[in-house]
Amino acid sequence: MVQFNLPPHSRIKPGKTWPAPQDAKRLLTVRVYRWDPEDHDNPRLDTFLIDREQCGAMVLDALIRIKNQIDPSLTFRRSCREGVCGSCAMNINGRNALACTKAIEDYGDTLTIHPLPHQSVLKDLVTDMTLFYAQYASIQPWLKTLTPAPSDRERLQSPEERALLDDLYDCILCACCSTACPSYWWNSDRYLGPATLLQAYRWIADSRDEATGERLDALEDPFKLYRCHTIMNCTDTCPKGLNPAKAIAEIKKLLALRQE
Ligand code: SF4
Ligand code: SF4
Ligand code: FES
Repeated sequence: MVQFNLPPHSRIKPGKTWPAPQDAKRLLTVRVYRWDPEDHDNPRLDTFLIDREQCGAMVLDALIRIKNQIDPSLTFRRSCREGVCGSCAMNINGRNALACTKAIEDYGDTLTIHPLPHQSVLKDLVTDMTLFYAQYASIQPWLKTLTPAPSDRERLQSPEERALLDDLYDCILCACCSTACPSYWWNSDRYLGPATLLQAYRWIADSRDEATGERLDALEDPFKLYRCHTIMNCTDTCPKGLNPAKAIAEIKKLLALRQE
């Protein structure tokens, strides 16, 4: 599999190199993309040297160490530290990943960290997710029904119907896939991208949902859906092991079948 995650920002100036801590036993070099809206020296790549022996095991631990001990202005998102909130998604040594689930050990002695590719940067590693969330909202990610709910129980599914939602409901909306997708890079204003399309299929595949036709109508568009050219970067990069490209192919198949 060819990895198309290009360095996200090509005109980066060399930034500040922060001194190594005294008495460091085992140095880790962490190069971090910096962008400060109140600064004229943008963007730059700062170099931090930290002692591996004083740092936790994960890439997120290195960033937290830098923020706590060296430069409190370093800005990044994180919340759960368990790979379930999706907020620490960033580009680590050329690939999109969740910083809290990636072991420093797997990268050797140098980390190079950029924000998610082809996103507007608000500060340092924090990107503007407004469009991404608006696209997610556009697929109306909730159960839509016409028939009244049973009065004595939930809307039930068979085990087989429930199994159809596996590897769909688990998406944490981290945007690693969409920001690794070349089609999304060039057409993100009109192409919904793999994360939103996987979520769209999650509701199409739900046996309880009664708006399947309406959902397919909304996706039958040369840009919203058909900008996917099956490049597969999305599936290659998903930190949860999901397959957005397959979900997109399933939507295309349903649209083709209903035209027969
Ligand atoms: S398979 Fe489609 S959505 Fe996934 S990276 Fe390729 S073009 Fe993008
Ligand atoms: S499909 Fe995977 S990479 Fe894409 S948003 Fe969901 S969890 Fe993240
Ligand atoms: S902090 Fe929640 S996924 Fe990394």
